[in-house]
Amino acid sequence: MAKAGHEGKSLTEIAGLYGIGQYETHFFLCTGPDCCTPEVGDAAWIALKAKIKALYPRMREAKIYRTKVGCLRMCQEGPTALCYPQGKWYRGVTADKIDDLIDHIHSGNPQPHPQEFAVNPLSRSK
Ligand code: FES
Repeated sequence: MAKAGHEGKSLTEIAGLYGIGQYETHFFLCTGPDCCTPEVGDAAWIALKAKIKALYPRMREAKIYRTKVGCLRMCQEGPTALCYPQGKWYRGVTADKIDDLIDHIHSGNPQPHPQEFAVNPLSRSK
């Protein structure tokens, strides 16, 4: 079984369609149901997709990859989100907060964003 548009393509070809290999940030957004209602989570997801599309009209040129997840195990004050490689975790990422948060991450500003509540950057130096 394949997603529409993926039929007959190898995984390498599909990865190319999504621009995998060029991303600088991977943003994960929990859309509930425990940290927020599915309606609030879905609204945030729609806002996230629109924001990334506004920054990068061509998916193959995007520097931010987005993934919707079912739970990040925080389960309160959501929608909960995190991004790598920064390893920053965010609370209350509602649709109206997406624009400012993505701009903050996209700018590379090292100061904590008001939604940030934890940091766990990944390291390869172990
Ligand atoms: S349901 Fe969102 S963190 Fe658990």
